[in-house]
Amino acid sequence: MKLWGGRFTKETNQLVHNFNASIGFDQKFYHQDIRGSIAHVTMLAKQGILTDTERDTIIAGLSGIEKDIENGTLVIDGTQEDIHSFVEANLIARIGEVGKKLHTGRSRNDQVALDMKLYIRDEIAAVDELLLSLLEELHTLMKNNVTTYMPGFTHLQKAQPVTLAHHIGAYFEMFKRDRSRLADTKARLNYCPLGAGALAGTTYPLDREYTASLLDFTGATLNSMDSVSDRDYLIELLSAFSTIMMHLSRFCEEIIIWNSNEYRFITLDDAYSTGSSIMPQKKNPDIAELVRGKTGRVYGALVSILTTMKALPLAYNKDMQEDKELTFDAIDTVKGCLALFTGMISTMTVNKDNMESSAKNGFTNATDAADYLVNHGVPFRDAHGIVGQLVLFCEQKGIALDDMTLEEYKAISPVFEEDIFEAIRMETCVTKRNTLGAPGPAVMEEVIKRNEDYLKAR
Ligand code: ARG
Repeated sequence: MKLWGGRFTKETNQLVHNFNASIGFDQKFYHQDIRGSIAHVTMLAKQGILTDTERDTIIAGLSGIEKDIENGTLVIDGTQEDIHSFVEANLIARIGEVGKKLHTGRSRNDQVALDMKLYIRDEIAAVDELLLSLLEELHTLMKNNVTTYMPGFTHLQKAQPVTLAHHIGAYFEMFKRDRSRLADTKARLNYCPLGAGALAGTTYPLDREYTASLLDFTGATLNSMDSVSDRDYLIELLSAFSTIMMHLSRFCEEIIIWNSNEYRFITLDDAYSTGSSIMPQKKNPDIAELVRGKTGRVYGALVSILTTMKALPLAYNKDMQEDKELTFDAIDTVKGCLALFTGMISTMTVNKDNMESSAKNGFTNATDAADYLVNHGVPFRDAHGIVGQLVLFCEQKGIALDDMTLEEYKAISPVFEEDIFEAIRMETCVTKRNTLGAPGPAVMEEVIKRNEDYLKAR
């Protein structure tokens, strides 16, 4: 018998039941469902709507159900439509008539809105932990590579020398912002919808603020129609997740390039690489590629829920049940990718020499050569032209700017003196870039220190 079977004269068609049911996936939040019910009956008793004995009997029953689900003696099967019906039916079977009072002053519409918010809150905390572990790992990499020189790129062409610490520091900032986006999402969702009923509140004297405080919400929601039909927080969550995946995907792309035979900036650990069934020499960066690839499904979840919500009239509509599977899949995907990615970069080897020689061989110090001329009174546009000639000369001879003789320099511009070699050394180029946020070791140490404080504050 369905919870709502009273006004029906026929059994539901089996295909309709299957199509309509959500228990296959909403059983994931049985814990949150039971937690919400316990808060609800606690409030009902405080308001004199239930007696204390009724409250205690119901809470004992609900706790028993949770324990039995956890130890496997109570199996969530497909006979009930959703987890809410499953818990209520089991409660009634367990404690009898008084169990029928659980749903007083409540609808599944406000119940599911509550369950989902509680569930998302827990998952935000879990994803935040994973982001923190990744940030710890990045911080260690930064500390160890303040003078690991490498080319910085624009257009994937060598541009100016940076350090690995500086490059990794860019991702550190991205993942910091990701944490703050999740915190914002949580702050905005943290209002309790329970008591909104189906859409128009209830006629019982509920204390909604009390229920909200029992469940660690900032407060109660202020419009019952919005309470049961708001899924903004899922859109925000999936948008924040999409951004996390975008960041991971960009990082993976670089890892794949750095690990390629041509670059060899890093070497991925054997435990985080895979082989080929035909080519014995192959060691492939499959994990980085998979993380990059899985970005698409998280974006898909975001677009999917935006599309589902578009044009839904107030208040609850069953379309909203479609919010769950895609959100759960996105949560699993983001958690899995963060964990694997952190493992991958914490085990990779940094090939410092290859990075440095790549920076040396790509004219990354050309801007510094032009700056040298500017410091000796040459207008920048002329200096740019002179260094362009130097680069052309070097390219023809297959050498770096550092390898030219002073005579060769002077033949192109008499302004050059012996100190040009010091001015274009890799160390000089990086060390002189000392504005806050630049790769110079002194400011990099300052940033590392600030990030350390950030990590300590959690
Ligand atoms: N399974 C439903 C969902 O996920 C729960 C709410 C059902 N409410 C209703 N009026 N049918 O949205």
